[in-house]
Amino acid sequence: YADPEFSAELIAWQKQHGRHRLPWQNTGDAYRVWLSEIMLQQTQVTAVIPYYLRFLEKFPSVQDLAAAPVEEVMALWAGLGYYTRARNLHQCAKQVVAQYQGVFPSDPSLLNALPGIGRSTAAAVAAFSYGTIAAILDGNVKRVFARVFGIDAYPGIKSVEDDLWLRAEALLPQTEIAAYTQGLMDLGATLCTRSKPDCARCPFQHRCVAFAEGRTAELPVRKPK
Ligand code: ADE
Repeated sequence: YADPEFSAELIAWQKQHGRHRLPWQNTGDAYRVWLSEIMLQQTQVTAVIPYYLRFLEKFPSVQDLAAAPVEEVMALWAGLGYYTRARNLHQCAKQVVAQYQGVFPSDPSLLNALPGIGRSTAAAVAAFSYGTIAAILDGNVKRVFARVFGIDAYPGIKSVEDDLWLRAEALLPQTEIAAYTQGLMDLGATLCTRSKPDCARCPFQHRCVAFAEGRTAELPVRKPK
């Protein structure tokens, strides 16, 4: 599935049209990147920003978060939803302090072993914090791949998801991993949306199978009932 044009086109698009001024970007601080990625797992950027800023004010470091009573963490999370994320967040902070002296590892497989950090979040944290070349595959990215490559099977099937991960790995650039990773997220969130995608502005329109076949409304394939 190697295809160097894919990352080159996405990185160029991200530099011109992607989101660059989110509060957790360009900090070089893995704690901030991790905190933002956990909050962003099931929640949109605009809802996350005020929570993110309040968390950082109250817990400026992973040590501060680890030392807090869990009730204080839950109170600050109230309103964001998916409260398992908050319990895992607190447990993860404690582990990073106890096992890694408060320094998040740069190896995605070590990050993936921590509470609340799945394979895709591990890759995003490593890429944004340390420039580690690693593949993400969240719901938005699955939708982009399903459309651009015309993947005609439900991504919830294990073999289909495995194939998507293989594609995600093969498409990775050798440099500018942060711009590439943010580009994938931003394309899925801003243009290649679930309904009414803005194909006219998409950098992949010229090579998108779903666009060519007029099937953006059918891809990705929905869960079979
Ligand atoms: N969703 C998950 N991670 C994100 C990020 N870094 N920027 C924007 N949306 C996201």
